[in-house]
Amino acid sequence: MAKTLACVVSAVLGFSAIGYGAGSQTEKIPNAQAQATVQFWLEQQMRKSARHMTDNFLGNGAVLASPSKADPDYYYHWTRDAALTMATVARLYETETDHTERNRLGEFMRNYAVFVRGINDRPTASGPVDAYYTNIGEPKYYVDGSPYDRPWGRPQTDGPALGALTLLNFLSIAAADGQSTFVDQGEVRVIKEALTQYLDYTAHHWQTPTFDLWEEVKGRHFYNVLAQRRALLRGAQWMQKNGDKARASHYSAQARLLTAVAESYWDDKRGYIVATHDRSGGIDYKNSNLDVAVILAVLHTDDQGEFFAPTDDRVLLTAYRISQSFKQLFPINQRNVDGDGLALAPGIGRYPEDRYDGVTNSQGHGWFIATAALAELHYRAALGFAKAGRVEINAQNRAFFASLPGSLVATLTGGQERFTKDVVVKSSQDSFRAVINALLESGDQYVARIRHHANLVGELDEQFDRNTGFMRGARHLTWSYASLLSASDHRRQLLEWLKDL
Ligand code: NOJ
Ligand code: NOJ
Repeated sequence: MAKTLACVVSAVLGFSAIGYGAGSQTEKIPNAQAQATVQFWLEQQMRKSARHMTDNFLGNGAVLASPSKADPDYYYHWTRDAALTMATVARLYETETDHTERNRLGEFMRNYAVFVRGINDRPTASGPVDAYYTNIGEPKYYVDGSPYDRPWGRPQTDGPALGALTLLNFLSIAAADGQSTFVDQGEVRVIKEALTQYLDYTAHHWQTPTFDLWEEVKGRHFYNVLAQRRALLRGAQWMQKNGDKARASHYSAQARLLTAVAESYWDDKRGYIVATHDRSGGIDYKNSNLDVAVILAVLHTDDQGEFFAPTDDRVLLTAYRISQSFKQLFPINQRNVDGDGLALAPGIGRYPEDRYDGVTNSQGHGWFIATAALAELHYRAALGFAKAGRVEINAQNRAFFASLPGSLVATLTGGQERFTKDVVVKSSQDSFRAVINALLESGDQYVARIRHHANLVGELDEQFDRNTGFMRGARHLTWSYASLLSASDHRRQLLEWLKDL
């Protein structure tokens, strides 16, 4: 491994550095070796990520977006970041075998739920505490739980839906655990109350124009629609089981409306799912409407492949377009093999026109959460196809499949030019395993990209510079860690499944 002294020194000092594979371009190493290298790195990095992530949890349950207090000041509890991070914590809790560590994770979950229940009762700049909790549209809070009160992009309607999904996970974990779980009776009641607030907010406010998850564009967003729909569907099931028929039927009816709305974001002419409809405020230069938020929407709401799943042709094509776009846009992406011989997928940013540089507006850069999202999408698509026992390569998705590593897909489809009819590959065929492996390999190339820009102490900030590759933006971004942990968890599930294939 070629690591320069400067790299090692700066990593030890905690500077952002290109920690791995920073040496000169080498030949690509064989696949099996690449897979083992990624695996080894992930094992180390997951421990570091989990530690860095939980370092950002405060004793009162607040989840810091980042410990950074200036340039940028991210020393707040954001509803969205906290919900997504705690969904990952719940996942870690479920798979943790060490008793002490499990208890520690359980305590974070409990603290978070109690904190949320507390802040949900406060009037905010987004609105009063009324029958439908208009106040809850507030996107961020000071760490003592008081709502942020200065100008901001508000409301943001995705957070409550994401919070509801996370709390629903908590409740099903607690139920499965039985007696010895992370919450007592009283705390379960607190979770149920917070859940009901989040769901009532969502059921009554999903039509409200909202700032998007990047806090920049006011309008109606695919990300919010998918999150709201899933929260209301799962919420309706939960209410039904718990005897609240009125809420169950109201939530279901809203979810049905959201299903139809979600479908309208597929843009046949552009050939991808667009991020926003009906822009009514905020920035006005997002001309492509191509945004990794669409991929995040899928990852944060997929449930058994039911709707806009990772295997959906429209989703795969959107992922392909995003990847192509950043491949051309960022100078760092001209390099596609690192110093260790690992193939690198393109580093991905939020959207091509992005100008936010982590502190102010100039030029956008690569984001760890965006790059981890592409990795996770590939793992989950592979898992989805593996479970279905069938992959279909057709006119709509073939650009995506043709872009996967290896020439297998070109062989299957008889080359792009001559592609005339759909190709169905079933699990009984040898080529099935090859397609799944190509998806795994592609996911690993995104992880290799993250490894390339992370430093040796395992720090992940918000962004990596499009020109130099060095990390930038908020230090130790909580969501960066959570997103890599989540991608890694899905990779593990995929490998487990492949053992029996
Ligand atoms: C801060 C927001 O959190 C970020 O997403 C946005 O891009 C910038 N403000 C825009 O200035
Ligand atoms: C800016 C991101 O755009 C937004 O999604 C996030 O909630 C905040 N930073 C805090 O991490």
